[in-house]
Amino acid sequence: MKNIEVGSASVEIIKEAAQIIKSGGLVAFPTETVYGLGANALCKEACAKIYEAKGRPSDNPLIVHINKGFELVRVAREVPRGAQALMDAFSPGPLTVILPARPGVFAYGYGDTVAVRIPGGIAARLLIHHADVPIAAPSANLSGRPSPTTAQHVLEDLDGKIDMVLDGGVCKHGVESTVVDFTSDTPKILRPGAITQEMIAEVIGKVAMATADEPAKSPGMNYKHYAPKAKMTLVEGEPAVVATKILELMAQSQAENPVILIPSSDKSLYGQASIMQLGRRPEEIAAGIYSALRRCDELGHDEIFVQGVEETGIGVAIMNRLRKAAGNT
Ligand code: TXA
Ligand code: MG
Repeated sequence: MKNIEVGSASVEIIKEAAQIIKSGGLVAFPTETVYGLGANALCKEACAKIYEAKGRPSDNPLIVHINKGFELVRVAREVPRGAQALMDAFSPGPLTVILPARPGVFAYGYGDTVAVRIPGGIAARLLIHHADVPIAAPSANLSGRPSPTTAQHVLEDLDGKIDMVLDGGVCKHGVESTVVDFTSDTPKILRPGAITQEMIAEVIGKVAMATADEPAKSPGMNYKHYAPKAKMTLVEGEPAVVATKILELMAQSQAENPVILIPSSDKSLYGQASIMQLGRRPEEIAAGIYSALRRCDELGHDEIFVQGVEETGIGVAIMNRLRKAAGNT
């Protein structure tokens, strides 16, 4: 397998990757959210390889990545006005819309709907352009593991199982795209991300948020997910109260090498305890959260305590992923 830098003279490399996609292979590639594991979305056998490589449950459908708005008609039967307005406002970008699928286009699929997104990031866009087919791509991790935000993470999980990884450095957002369903009466956010509920409401008016206690319409949201190997406990609330609680839990813990994940600004609340700082701004915490969970495994931490973050802006996406990683939902 090739592991290649996307530098200034990289178009040839991307063309090579596109050729692999065209001929039914698997290429991991960087997007502005996380690394994706791409295959020709029009080829059933190629998509089947994605499930095989990731160990992904077969009932969990894939997001289809396109390069330009007009390509929507290749995959969607119909594009509701709200979906078009959202795409116009935020694509290319960390947004996925669920639309009625074009019949007969997809060899795989999930009912009669399709998830579509135009990723940001030049490598992803060039790859789709040169492959000249829609690219189905889930996050390029083993199923259940934290999503990869570097090419190194991809290799940790999938080396030997895929044909190529394009190395585009560290992903900007670090959490997966916001998924918005346009196939029922009111548009609904199935997975929060960098495009927030407020940003969406500004463009299309009312938008609902799927709650943890309703059956997930995105099968992927039902599984325990994004999880490190160690046992993980998430404590939510006011920072000083949370810190006291976590230090108490840590004192009672039987773990040999526990660690506490915290926003850097609350460092002083933890004294001499073993901490890992996640950064200050919510955007910074989002960008590094999966990396931090993987690092906990690497460093052999056998128990992880996490201080929750405020649920505003991208904080909503961070908490959604942390709850799933801790198995709380
Ligand atoms: O940022 C992202 O979206 C990344 C990058 C690589 O683009 N991709 C990603 O894919 O996160 P994945 O497969 O890890 O997550 C896709 C989510 C899953 O929860 C899946 O169940 C849901 O989208 N999904 C896909 N197709 C769907 C459909 N037709 N209806 C409802 N949910 C769907
Ligand atoms: Mg995923």
